[in-house]
Amino acid sequence: MEEAGLEVDVDPAGNLIGRTTMPDVWTGSHLDTVPNGGKYDGALGVVAAIEAVERIGHGAVVAFRDEERGCTGSEAFVVRGDLPAAFLELHIEQGPVLEAAGAPLGIVTGITGIIRAERVFEGVAGHAGTVPMPLRRDALAAASEYVLRVRDVAASIDGAVATVGRLDVQPSAANVIPSRVRLSVDARAPDRARLDRLVAELELDPLFELEPVAMAAAPVAALRAEVETRRLPVVKLPSGAGHDAAVLAAAGVPTGMLFVRSLNGGASHSPEEKSAAEDIALAVDVLAGTLARLP
Ligand code: GLV
Ligand code: MN
Ligand code: MN
Repeated sequence: MEEAGLEVDVDPAGNLIGRTTMPDVWTGSHLDTVPNGGKYDGALGVVAAIEAVERIGHGAVVAFRDEERGCTGSEAFVVRGDLPAAFLELHIEQGPVLEAAGAPLGIVTGITGIIRAERVFEGVAGHAGTVPMPLRRDALAAASEYVLRVRDVAASIDGAVATVGRLDVQPSAANVIPSRVRLSVDARAPDRARLDRLVAELELDPLFELEPVAMAAAPVAALRAEVETRRLPVVKLPSGAGHDAAVLAAAGVPTGMLFVRSLNGGASHSPEEKSAAEDIALAVDVLAGTLARLP
């Protein structure tokens, strides 16, 4: 950021910000990753933002803190209230749609709603050899039934997905009946009504919520114009992943997102994540051109 001539600052939430003298339109993403993640999710949008803002000579770049666990950086940013005139986030698609369509870039229409919650199952510890099956209270057996319910409920709601990705089993020994299980639930849907159904049917008490949001008309139109100018196919698609852009959009900032084609079948949150250098170069051109058209 310093090499690009930006005034660099870390805000109280730990967001890394680089401003020009005219910080009107903002762009950026995040630098944190999931365990064993890839190198593009987040970081690409920060590097691209620095390049784009340096080219157009106005605007600001932000690397939001701690996106993966629940967008705490961007949440704190919007609470502080000095909001951008517009925000754009460049990100890899993290899915197979653009690769299948043969399109290097995609314009995001909206971002999924997300609920994260935990559920705890209490049982009774006991000796794995001496307690007869009918007399057991096995916390993991109960948790396992719930995991299958998560799958079935999400499958019954069009457009919804839900995942149990973490199980903490106590005391976690091969010869002890599990006494306590804590598990995570990540439930997603494209609108509030379907998200509410997931909450009700899975009996979730949300620890974290990201509202489903639509991208704003002006950034979407500007992205489209830049894509069309380059005679590239215009592909519009929703985002099933959460992004800091959703937090800014929910706070009322006119927000747009540009996706770069993911290769390897859209692999993401894994080391298989990959996008082509030529696609990334096109995306940076479109990002810079779009920023120049806004706000
Ligand atoms: C962010 O990576 C998410 O969980 O959607
Ligand atoms: Mn990301
Ligand atoms: Mn991610």
